[in-house]
Amino acid sequence: MIVTTKELFKHAYGKYAVGAYNINNAEQVMGLFRGCMESKAPFIVQLSKGARSYTDKRMLEAMLRAADEIFPDAIFAVHLDHGDEATCMECIDSGFYSSVMIDASHASFDENIAITKRVADAAHAKGLVAEAELGQLGGVEEHVSVSEADAKLTNPEQAKEFVERSGCDSLACAIGTSHGAFKFSGSQGLHFDVLADIQKRLPGFPLVMHGSSSVPQDEVARINAAGGKMKGAKGVDETQFLPAAKLGVTKINIDTDGRLVWCRVHREEFMKNPENFDLRPPGKVFMAEYAKYIAHKNAVLGSAGQIDSIRASLKK
Ligand code: G3H
Ligand code: 13P
Ligand code: ZN
Repeated sequence: MIVTTKELFKHAYGKYAVGAYNINNAEQVMGLFRGCMESKAPFIVQLSKGARSYTDKRMLEAMLRAADEIFPDAIFAVHLDHGDEATCMECIDSGFYSSVMIDASHASFDENIAITKRVADAAHAKGLVAEAELGQLGGVEEHVSVSEADAKLTNPEQAKEFVERSGCDSLACAIGTSHGAFKFSGSQGLHFDVLADIQKRLPGFPLVMHGSSSVPQDEVARINAAGGKMKGAKGVDETQFLPAAKLGVTKINIDTDGRLVWCRVHREEFMKNPENFDLRPPGKVFMAEYAKYIAHKNAVLGSAGQIDSIRASLKK
């Protein structure tokens, strides 16, 4: 069942975070839905601009419609990740998405508010919700590379004004994470003080943490042992998720860790079976490993086991 992120956040707020997972192909979709069903978790499927053009946006949407039929008990939101204004409007008009993210974080404060307001108004008119971003994460986003030095933490005072003036439904805050597999080169970490300050000024308002892959070191070691070159890859400590959820983070974005599962499975499979040229054997291992990885993430996010309770709350 497709729901809005707003419905998911209402149930999660202050208790756990909902995993927001990016998908690109059928194997990821199967692994994601299986993992969420096995762990009985609500979830958010994220489609980035890059994912929508990798094969064709209609292909991704058709896969999700099919998954909704194959897994009739699943409860999930369909969310555009890091959209520009035009893509947000297209997704709002498509009638398929339940939530969009407008990422105008590279614009000035006032311009970010103006763009976000236009998208939030359009989303609300069609019963959708809008996530916005204030502050700037380091790392690489589609077409935009932000160096550590240029990354800007969210200003808590501005966050309140931003939410009030833009009408957004949730806010992605920069608190020290970055996108990709190389998040921390030195002693940097998460700024929970900033998060606590934002929650104090915006009590009850759903916050979002991007760049939350944990880049498991055993995964990196296996990739490197199978011919990969990922020296120095580092991510967010998974034990930080629940403390973040207590501070109002209801959505935690994870993409890179899923790519690592894909990379490890395929490197190991082809190393073990160099004579193989068939896509299905590694594909089957990948779907099973991806489901396992998703179930584990849902456990550490606290969303595992919440599906019956959320189903009951949706009926009220
Ligand atoms: O924040 C970016 C997400 O990880 C999506 O990545 O734009 O390469 O699909 P992508
Ligand atoms: P990671 O690169 O840490 O997985 O972050 C993903 C993300 O924020 C998607 O919007
Ligand atoms: Zn992101």
